Amino acid sequence: MRRPVIAGNWKMYKTLAETRAFFQAFLPLVAGTKHCDIVVAPPYTALTAAAESTRGSGVAIAAQDLHWAVEGAFTGEISARMIAEAGCRGVVVGHSERRQYFGETDESVLRKTRAALEAGLQPIVCVGETLVEREGNLAESVLKRQFEDGLAALTPPEFSRILLAYEPVWAIGTGRTATPEQAAEAHGHLRAMAAARFGPEQASSLRILYGGSVKPENIRGLMAQAEIDGALVGGASLDPKSFAAIVNY
Ligand code: PGA
Repeated sequence: MRRPVIAGNWKMYKTLAETRAFFQAFLPLVAGTKHCDIVVAPPYTALTAAAESTRGSGVAIAAQDLHWAVEGAFTGEISARMIAEAGCRGVVVGHSERRQYFGETDESVLRKTRAALEAGLQPIVCVGETLVEREGNLAESVLKRQFEDGLAALTPPEFSRILLAYEPVWAIGTGRTATPEQAAEAHGHLRAMAAARFGPEQASSLRILYGGSVKPENIRGLMAQAEIDGALVGGASLDPKSFAAIVNY
């Protein structure tokens, strides 16, 4: 049995005060939650406050990106060690918004994933096709390229520590969710790629999250699919009640 993971990606939202207020409202709503791992990824500036607010609660904090170097002259960048020191247990890597607006490539995704693992962080590695790619029947080949160029070079022990997130770009922030069947089909392709590269055992323990317009209203249908092991939630993770409703699906 794969343990479900519900992760919230706050993107560029929430100040320190808003972060503290969120957890004050959110933690009591999930205090009795045992059935899944809960992760929240605030912006860099709020990481320490989030880690302090959630200490002892079982909620894990993750960053939204990192640089692959240990340290160096990279103005504006943050290393894995800095993120770990801020109290994070994980980090999102290769989000489609990073790929689309900030030049993230499959190669940089691989470097960042390795850097995260070396610092003891759990990477949540995102893959997914755009609308043009889906309509051109390229979804499977895009996932294959992102998997092979971004992840296949990991060692089996490295691969066993990652979470994969399937996030069709056309479903992110658009209100247009992939149907549970569409998501499950893509997850099945990804699991088959993992099996081909790392063997069936590793593939069957790999947790694959779905992301793209996940809401309290659609989480149950998604989680009813055996292939879907959790969710990466953007907009609906900003409100404590709606994120708690998703966590407690
Ligand atoms: P959304 O974002 O839930 O707002 O669509 C998902 C994501 O980008 O991780």
